[in-house]
Amino acid sequence: MLQKNMGGREAPMPLKKIDLLRKLKPTSSNWVPQVPRNWGPGKPLTSPHPPSQPSDPLCPIHSRFVRMGGKARPLPRALVFALLLAIPLAAQAQTADQAWLKYEKTTDRHIFSICVRSLGNSTLQQSAVQELARSHLGFENPLDDPSNQTSSLRICNPAPGIRDDIGDVILGTLAEVRRSYPQLVLAGRSGPGAFWLTHVVEHDNHKIIVAGEDDQGVLYGAFALIRRLRQGQLIYPIEIHEVPAYPIRWVDEWDNPDGSIERGYAGRSIFFEGGNVSDDLAPVSEYGRLLASVGINGLNVNNVNAAPQLIDSGHLRQLARIADALRPWGVRLAMSVAIASPQTIGGLKTYDPLDPAVKAWWAAKANEIYTLIPDFAGFTVKADSEGQPGPASFGRTPADAANTLAAALAPHGGVVLYRAFVYNHHLDWHDPKADRARAAYDIFHPLDGKFAANVIVQTKEGPIDFQVREPVSPLFAGLEHTAQAMEVQITQEYTGQQRHLVYLAPMWKGVLDTDLRANSQPSPVKEILEGKTFHQPLGGLVGVAGIGRDRWLRSPLALANLYAFGRLAWNPNLSPSEIADEWTRQTISTNSVVVATVENMLMQSWPAYERYTGPLGLQTLTDITGSHYGPNIESSERNGWGQWHDADALGVGKDRTVATGSGYAGQYPPELAKIYESEETTPDDLLLFFHHLPYTYKLHDGKTVIQYLYDSHYQGAAQAAEFVKDWQSIQPQIDPSLYTDVLARLEYQAGHAIVWRDAVVQYFFKLSGIPDAKGRAGHFPGRLEAEDARLTGYQVIDVHPWEDASRGKAVSCPTPTQNDPAMKGTGFSPYVNTPKSSGASAPEGMPTCTAQWTWTGATGRYNIAVQYFDLEGGAAKFTLLVNGQPISNWTADASLPSTHPNGDNSTRKTMRDIDLKAGDTIQVNGIPDGSDRAALDYIELTSAGNAAPKP
Ligand code: GCU
Repeated sequence: MLQKNMGGREAPMPLKKIDLLRKLKPTSSNWVPQVPRNWGPGKPLTSPHPPSQPSDPLCPIHSRFVRMGGKARPLPRALVFALLLAIPLAAQAQTADQAWLKYEKTTDRHIFSICVRSLGNSTLQQSAVQELARSHLGFENPLDDPSNQTSSLRICNPAPGIRDDIGDVILGTLAEVRRSYPQLVLAGRSGPGAFWLTHVVEHDNHKIIVAGEDDQGVLYGAFALIRRLRQGQLIYPIEIHEVPAYPIRWVDEWDNPDGSIERGYAGRSIFFEGGNVSDDLAPVSEYGRLLASVGINGLNVNNVNAAPQLIDSGHLRQLARIADALRPWGVRLAMSVAIASPQTIGGLKTYDPLDPAVKAWWAAKANEIYTLIPDFAGFTVKADSEGQPGPASFGRTPADAANTLAAALAPHGGVVLYRAFVYNHHLDWHDPKADRARAAYDIFHPLDGKFAANVIVQTKEGPIDFQVREPVSPLFAGLEHTAQAMEVQITQEYTGQQRHLVYLAPMWKGVLDTDLRANSQPSPVKEILEGKTFHQPLGGLVGVAGIGRDRWLRSPLALANLYAFGRLAWNPNLSPSEIADEWTRQTISTNSVVVATVENMLMQSWPAYERYTGPLGLQTLTDITGSHYGPNIESSERNGWGQWHDADALGVGKDRTVATGSGYAGQYPPELAKIYESEETTPDDLLLFFHHLPYTYKLHDGKTVIQYLYDSHYQGAAQAAEFVKDWQSIQPQIDPSLYTDVLARLEYQAGHAIVWRDAVVQYFFKLSGIPDAKGRAGHFPGRLEAEDARLTGYQVIDVHPWEDASRGKAVSCPTPTQNDPAMKGTGFSPYVNTPKSSGASAPEGMPTCTAQWTWTGATGRYNIAVQYFDLEGGAAKFTLLVNGQPISNWTADASLPSTHPNGDNSTRKTMRDIDLKAGDTIQVNGIPDGSDRAALDYIELTSAGNAAPKP
């Protein structure tokens, strides 16, 4: 049980905010090594020291060059060619090109000479120059279309016979630019990372000026220029000035030292392997590039459920290599720490944060870290949460713990991101007052003002846990004297795990724009985080990224979420659709039809997912104690985790009102509290989060709750099917391998959306007993159940949870060798290597189980969907046959959760345009493999003309 004790607090560290900001601001005097240090574990550390000579900026590549304020030296041709050659090679590895920094050339083009030049020589400016040089390899020939000015910025080309061209790109800090161009007026608000893009005409030559408030701003300015060019926007005139909204723009990686990633869905870690930092950190540098391109400036490298050993001296030396790899991109390293480290790693008798020895231990640890990583960003802390040790064990508060760490980091300019995700997961579900949603506010609000200036309380966007929709956490309005960051998930833990297309920017944007009406004043969350509302200068956005070795997020379209996160952390006023638009143009195509289609798919994807998983504020109705993926409605009920939706025969929803429920609604400022207190004023999309209501309760549009549930799930699943068609409609304009990859994902999603639809609809249909006004619930024309088939080898099984299979049953093919108690005494004798059926044949000794139906419907052309379970631990084979003739065979080798048939792995494969007449036999053969027992739920026939046939 979580113990809450708010006593024994210590005064916050007397650190002035102004000092802190100065310290947090990266400066050009922060020396950054040019080449990543490359020491392994246990090797002695050589102190980093600055190079004696500033290294040359990459450019000028060409000799025609305007010299202003810096000595320009041409880059040797050999090096230019080496650079050009390196690019295709790099494409084999894990590169930023696999995301939106895709500079590949698509047409023949001339390359005109142009010089990109930096006025300073910091590593960040060099990165900026390199990136510009690299990006211009992809621009098309402007002579193809003289009206097209978008390509007027080009890389120098040393090849003979190519005419010189006008124009330079000049990069520098504000101070450097002002020195070189005293006549230039670069006005407006400033701040770390800010930049100006403008142009001047000098001796008839156009010059683009990229001026940064600091070196980091120069890099961001360069990326902004590239972004503009990649979208096909005009170069001239250009007048852009941007200041990032938040100083904290971090990604959190939940990577473990063994190379696994908590809630990661894209393969193994790029940071760790086998207990150590990976030898090859090239992907980390590439990741740094990606992050910098959207303005992200911090990376917390390890799981919040922190492995304590990462803070020992050997691992810290390794972590310094990650910091080195990120540094050229202005991304500072942070790490999660376990609050018990002084005891587990340091050998102290206690980890009580107020114990002087513990404080001294953290201070010494911070000194050690900063010796190795001079620009270390700080610590992230998960404590007293989900089994993690914390200050509550000593009767101390989160502020006590946070301030001890903050005091250790403060002299070095580091920050503590203390997570408000602190709750008791042994709640009593019989108690109507018990409510997990209350926890963050109950624990942290009383501590407001008690946190040191370099502590930032990091709160998830909603009060539960990254559900498909939650109300905004009331804590954002409850901390007026504390710096705050909002944590969102880029990795799609509860939102389809990247197998489903779910563009999350509209959800995040909705949260950022929510006006909490703190003190009855306008106080949108984005402005609270920005410090505008409560005058806290240190706020921001943190995104749990979950990137891995498989093309960053595995699914190409999921990368829109990483991109959008960065863009919103930079500027929360951008709209999700304009972000989708710019991402699509850079990543897929600038063709207007493609852009419109993809943007529409992205924008529809979150509402669709919400409709088929958990509408009306029910949260994602998934397996909350297991995979967090497929449907499992009762997994949230009657346990201590507190994600209850309190469904019974009469109604559904958690009563969180002050009057009769948990009182959570009262945690909001009065105007919002009043809205949420009444079911009449609560928006429908949050209704069941706040209220327990009868199924017959009428929503604002007059529809009953139960009818809305039915309709919503059918509508969402239909939308998922539309995404397939949308994507197919733009096939000619899409790169073929991207097309095929995304199509397979969308087809899978459309099938899985049906699994979701049917699970939730049949669950509530059974529970409520209320028929669907449109006659769909419990009625599936064209569906032929496996348990009704003539079975050979297959055995009928109950699926758990029952709603994950049609009518709760499926058939499964046991292997002859299996030692399964369920099979004992059944006299099961598998039908080995069936001689009569062709199609995939079973390996020696393996059974082929069959399910056979006789078609009794109308003669016609049909699509046949086979609903089967693609289980972990093997790759079962299936064949569909009609009248003994194989139509299609396939292997169930997707990587889906669970060795047991359920909604995590229920998968649909559709075979199209099959002619049938009454009396035909339809058969599915299944060959199990390992623990994948070729389990089968049903087949479903629909007219190939889309009308459902009468069976
Ligand atoms: C979720 C997630 C956990 C994670 C936790 C957190 O509950 O499922 O894996 O540790 O959030 O944010 O700490």
